[in-house]
Amino acid sequence: MAILLDKNENPFEMSLEIKKAVMEEISRLFFSRYPDPDYRILREKLGALAGLPGDVVIPGNGGDEILWMVFSCFVRPGDTVLGFSPTFSEYYRLAELFGARFTTVPIGLEGDEPDFNFSLFLETIEREKPTVVLLDTPNNPTGKTLPVPFLNEVLSSAGNSIVLIDEAYGEFASETYLESIRGKKVPPGAIVLKTLSKAWGLAGIRLGWAYCGSVSLDKMKKARSPFNVNIFSRTVAEIVLDHPGEARSSSIRIKELREYVRNRINGMKGWRAFNGQGNFLLLSIPRPEDCVRSAAGEQFAFKYMDLTPGIKETRSWIRLTIGREDEMEEALRFFASL
Ligand SMILES: Cc1ncc(COP(=O)(O)O)c(C=O)c1O
Repeated sequence: MAILLDKNENPFEMSLEIKKAVMEEISRLFFSRYPDPDYRILREKLGALAGLPGDVVIPGNGGDEILWMVFSCFVRPGDTVLGFSPTFSEYYRLAELFGARFTTVPIGLEGDEPDFNFSLFLETIEREKPTVVLLDTPNNPTGKTLPVPFLNEVLSSAGNSIVLIDEAYGEFASETYLESIRGKKVPPGAIVLKTLSKAWGLAGIRLGWAYCGSVSLDKMKKARSPFNVNIFSRTVAEIVLDHPGEARSSSIRIKELREYVRNRINGMKGWRAFNGQGNFLLLSIPRPEDCVRSAAGEQFAFKYMDLTPGIKETRSWIRLTIGREDEMEEALRFFASL
């Protein structure tokens, strides 16, 4: 069996008990009917997760569809979109597709830990006046979180721009923006993106959502097609959201494993793992050609990253998803054998 450590999926499948409850509920559904286009129950449950009203929630077919809606509402050809680089690959793809100029502030990767130039980022907002600012925190692929005070500064300097705070991996981090606004209001220009694909282990059902501030809420409502979440995904989500214990315990397990793997990697000569806060680690590896060649033979799937050109010459990078304990032992054994 292949060991899939390339897509930041959660390796822990939901329990059979919950699966059975889902199947029973699905057998009661009318497949001939459209879903309730308001998704009221689902939105309320998603709102409650963050201590926010269901009214500010926009559900999507994965976080990817939320990103699509943000671009279709706010990005026109020639607009500037701003983010750090490297970042989530979809941001580059959508910027290109929508004809935007994606201005990026590079993350320094030469040192022991990734270096985010916050003041340069704020200066770039002032200078470039982007229509949308895209910030994934934890950042994919470095795993670093952006401090809440920095995100608040971005929101206050961004004026009328939309600031998308992408917390797809928030459950694995020690600090989140969403927690800082629990029980308050989403700031007017902010959109916070979330997904069931990572900590909740439901990448296959494609369920993501956004908590929208007042600047974007009405536009995002209009951009969403009426039945964008199918009845199966909605049913799974509504049941699973009533059992948050499973996601919580698998996140704890993944975080513990992440620390274990990071320490092991950092003990290997020529290897380095950043102190990431997602369900993955960015590794700098000594002999990338050997790794690529042998991994295919051993049926490992890793994500090989092409990062900043200057750095590519001196180091090469793998983004390693944290899998199950046995998968991690296999991967460590493989790395040590290179
Ligand atoms: C930073 C980030 N945001 C959003 C997503 C979208 O996730 P999904 O479409 O599975 O909800 C991903 C997926 O890998 C991601 O890495």
